[in-house]
Amino acid sequence: MGSKNSGAWSFTLPSFLLCLSLCTTHLCLGSDTISANQSLSGNQTLISSGGNFKLGFFTPGNSPYSYLGIWFNKISVRTVVWVANRDNPVIDRYSTELKISGGNLVMVNDSRVPVWSTNLSTSSSGSSSPVAVLGDDGNFTLKDGLNSSATLWQSFNHPTDTWLPGAKIGIYKRKNTSQLLTSWKNAEDPSTGLFSLEPQPSIEYFIRWNRSFHYWTTGQWDRKNRGFANVPEMRPNHICNFIYVDNENESYFTYLRKNDSNTQLRLVMDLSGQVQMLSWLPSQQWNMFWSQPTRKCQVHNFCGPFTVCSENTDNFCSCLRGFSITSERDWNLSDMSSGCKRNSNLSCALSTSNGEKDRFLLHSNMKLPTDSQSLPVRNSKECRLSCLNNCSCTAYAFENNACSIWLGGLFNVQQLAQGDTTASSFYLRLAASNFEDLSKKTVAGSVSAALAILAILLFGIWRWRRRATVTLKSVEGSLIAFAYGDLLIATKNFSEKLGEGGFGSVFKGTLPDSSQIAVKKLESISQGEKQFRTEVSTIGIIQHVNLVRLRGFCSQGDKRLLVYDFMPNGSLDYYLFHRKDSKTLDWKTRYQIALGTARGLAYLHDKCRDCIIHCDIKPENILLDAEFCPKVADFGLAKLVGRDFSRVLTTMRGTRGYLAPEWISGVAITAKADVYSYGMMLFEFVSGRRNSELSENGAIKFFPTLAARKISEGADLLDLLDPNLETNAASEELTRICRVACWCVQDEETHRPSMGQVVHILERVLDVNLPRIPRALQLLLDNQEHVVFFTESSSSNQSSQTKSNTSTAS
Ligand SMILES: *[C@@H]1O[C@H](CO)[C@@H](O)[C@H](O)[C@H]1NC(C)=O
Ligand SMILES: *[C@@H]1O[C@H](CO)[C@@H](O)[C@H](O)[C@H]1NC(C)=O
Ligand SMILES: *[C@@H]1O[C@H](CO)[C@@H](O)[C@H](O)[C@H]1NC(C)=O
Ligand SMILES: *[C@@H]1O[C@H](CO)[C@@H](O)[C@H](O)[C@H]1NC(C)=O
Ligand SMILES: *[C@@H]1O[C@H](CO)[C@@H](O)[C@H](O)[C@H]1NC(C)=O
Ligand SMILES: *[C@@H]1O[C@H](CO)[C@@H](O)[C@H](O)[C@H]1NC(C)=O
Ligand SMILES: *[C@@H]1O[C@H](CO)[C@@H](O)[C@H](O)[C@H]1NC(C)=O
Ligand SMILES: *[C@@H]1O[C@H](CO)[C@@H](O)[C@H](O)[C@H]1NC(C)=O
Ligand SMILES: *[C@@H]1O[C@H](CO)[C@@H](O)[C@H](O)[C@H]1NC(C)=O
Ligand SMILES: *[C@@H]1O[C@H](CO)[C@@H](O)[C@H](O)[C@H]1NC(C)=O
Ligand SMILES: *[C@@H]1O[C@H](CO)[C@@H](O)[C@H](O)[C@H]1NC(C)=O
Ligand SMILES: *[C@@H]1O[C@H](CO)[C@@H](O)[C@H](O)[C@H]1NC(C)=O
Repeated sequence: MGSKNSGAWSFTLPSFLLCLSLCTTHLCLGSDTISANQSLSGNQTLISSGGNFKLGFFTPGNSPYSYLGIWFNKISVRTVVWVANRDNPVIDRYSTELKISGGNLVMVNDSRVPVWSTNLSTSSSGSSSPVAVLGDDGNFTLKDGLNSSATLWQSFNHPTDTWLPGAKIGIYKRKNTSQLLTSWKNAEDPSTGLFSLEPQPSIEYFIRWNRSFHYWTTGQWDRKNRGFANVPEMRPNHICNFIYVDNENESYFTYLRKNDSNTQLRLVMDLSGQVQMLSWLPSQQWNMFWSQPTRKCQVHNFCGPFTVCSENTDNFCSCLRGFSITSERDWNLSDMSSGCKRNSNLSCALSTSNGEKDRFLLHSNMKLPTDSQSLPVRNSKECRLSCLNNCSCTAYAFENNACSIWLGGLFNVQQLAQGDTTASSFYLRLAASNFEDLSKKTVAGSVSAALAILAILLFGIWRWRRRATVTLKSVEGSLIAFAYGDLLIATKNFSEKLGEGGFGSVFKGTLPDSSQIAVKKLESISQGEKQFRTEVSTIGIIQHVNLVRLRGFCSQGDKRLLVYDFMPNGSLDYYLFHRKDSKTLDWKTRYQIALGTARGLAYLHDKCRDCIIHCDIKPENILLDAEFCPKVADFGLAKLVGRDFSRVLTTMRGTRGYLAPEWISGVAITAKADVYSYGMMLFEFVSGRRNSELSENGAIKFFPTLAARKISEGADLLDLLDPNLETNAASEELTRICRVACWCVQDEETHRPSMGQVVHILERVLDVNLPRIPRALQLLLDNQEHVVFFTESSSSNQSSQTKSNTSTAS
């Protein structure tokens, strides 16, 4: 909001002198108090005693209006946290006065008409000498005399869009009213906007659109775990504490900054429809470290009517075809609520005046608009006719033998990623003239176009016949179904082996279009063809820059193969451990690989429709593309291999060092098992050698144990660093990575961060505390004998991480 710095609060010399001369009736510079006979006007301001906040008139951006507000005083970007007269702006701040009158704080314009008032009934404020004080927490209060403890009115009880630390947002049980945050209308207009955060009697918070429809909830407060069901990250964290208070008069939440942190915090109901929490960084900018709903397109009506929301474009919103932006000015100010309008009016089916019927344009790969009506018609044609015959029908869809139509505005349409199985198609009604416009652009001179198309077709057939070494039997979603013979040719009879993993061997191949592929021959697959195809197509949907892309598969007879993009730089273990002939990965690259890998895993855990646990995180499964961007490989295979998976896993070589203790104890495996393996791998990023490696002088030492002790002691960590880096690492990043690693390998799953949190920490969005030494690692410290189980030379299947003798392998 109001990020434009208009500098409206700086005093010029003449006004300073003017102010001094009027000190008795007007304010003195730098005061935090307005007393009975004083007033505030024009460029005058109050500054809180500690200098944190300022109160005065401000003009947001290019707005012609002025408002009375409070903003951060020590922050270079003017950030307004409270507005008095949000829905009642004034034109001229010099003719407007804020003063105490009749026991109330009142703002009057030059015709002495009140623009805003604290509206206290006179009986409750029969105070002789009330004063208004701006507190250093941003609370502007009206008190019964300077030394009085009675607060007659406070701005914290009347928030606009911002919830400051110490303020409360809750319900007054006696009056049955509540405090709520309401977004600004747009970036330059603080008037009441469409989105609000509202406390509910059921001890949860809703985000509502237009004070009615709620599209997000925190879920109920869990008193025992002190967290909301849907916002586990709101549990006491490194930055602040949320506190719930419930008594006979009110129930509310408040939050406090952690004592050791003096960063400025704010929680805002943003005009994007998301609640956001931000902190002020030393680099002089606001850093949003938390927001809900996490994706903008999840916000109800975010883009307004007749628009498409897409997470993959910079500005999220665009118009449906045949429509254009209703108000470019509003859109420029981040208010898309007016959406888009038709380029040409509908003629409506029955009006034969111009003889033109409306037509329909297909929109595919979409999340359908909300608020459809279903019609009991049998086929697509009838569905289309029903829509055409209703003048207010704007779109229809016919899927799975069901007809849906939409009347009036179309809302919440989303463009989905290619291959998303939830995607649907609908037909948008447009004026016939609109179609002419659309087609004119594409086909200029239909004859030449037809000829061109024919030529292209012929050329295509010729090319296809010439190079038809690969016959694409069928295409499922975006996946290609390869014939076995084609893969034999592509891999030259599986001659170039790239490696061998738990699921089978991988071979390099080249497709006729000369793109390179990696072909994985799966072993011990017991699934039938149909089930295999289903599983593979679910893996095919999962696409992220930090995940290796599945291009296709082959399922022929008992042969099961997967075809992936080829990664020219191979796997990470080579660069970390076998670098005799390769260059050492510099620190920056290592950090980026750690972050990218965390992003890929966070995507697998949280963003896919079903949480996917990788189960085998290790450097061998982190592949590097030509730019050394990391791509996690081998995900989603656990289901394919089915019950044999545990066997595959435990017989895999070199994997034991990465296994979380819960694998051995036999409890259900969650995503936190991947977090553990990831943490173990981070230690290897730092040391540049296998955790299980023997040290040079022959003494056995398990690096993570050594590291965990140093980290928990807060010691200098440069000693831990890969000697090949010659201490060339940013020490802040080194500390961050080491602490994260140590948190990831905690014994208790609940003590380990989620991959999403790891991403935030590595992105420096969250801070990370000193971890303690995990018990299993501490055990190793106390009892050196156990260490032997982690070395390569051990052939035992037992693990040192628990003292039980349970052996998971047969
Ligand atoms: C008030 O502040 C504005 C913006 O900084 C400035 O242009 C104007 O001259 C000031 N007015 C007075 C009377 O100082
Ligand atoms: C305010 O002004 C009135 C009359 O103008 C005067 O009687 C009163 O003492 C003043 N109060 C203060 C606190 O200055
Ligand atoms: C003062 O406010 C009243 C009521 O809103 C309005 O009618 C009047 O025009 C305002 N005067 C000025 C100078 O803005
Ligand atoms: C104060 O009361 C008046 C009249 O009831 C109302 O119009 C106005 O909105 C109220 N102002 C505030 C800040 O509540
Ligand atoms: C308020 O308290 C301060 C010291 O605590 C004292 O000096 C001052 O006279 C008091 N003012 C009033 C109006 O009681
Ligand atoms: C607001 O400030 C006043 C005066 O400093 C204080 O008495 C009151 O408790 C504060 N309100 C909240 C919610 O902290
Ligand atoms: C409180 O107000 C809400 C609507 O604002 C109403 O639904 C509810 O019944 C009221 N509760 C009580 C106890 O009056
Ligand atoms: C919000 O709701 C009110 C009725 O409560 C309605 O009049 C208004 O049109 C709605 N606003 C929008 C943008 O739909
Ligand atoms: C509730 O309100 C009553 C009346 O205002 C007051 O006497 C009582 O102390 C309040 N209770 C709490 C817990 O604040
Ligand atoms: C902050 O420190 C003060 C005393 O130094 C203590 O009373 C208070 O409880 C602490 N607050 C938090 C949130 O730790
Ligand atoms: C909106 O912003 C664009 C790009 O910044 C600009 O070209 C256009 O003139 C703006 N339109 C309006 C109405 O402000
Ligand atoms: C569409 O119809 C409205 C009135 O129904 C009219 O004001 C508007 O100009 C028409 N628009 C076009 C592009 O013809």
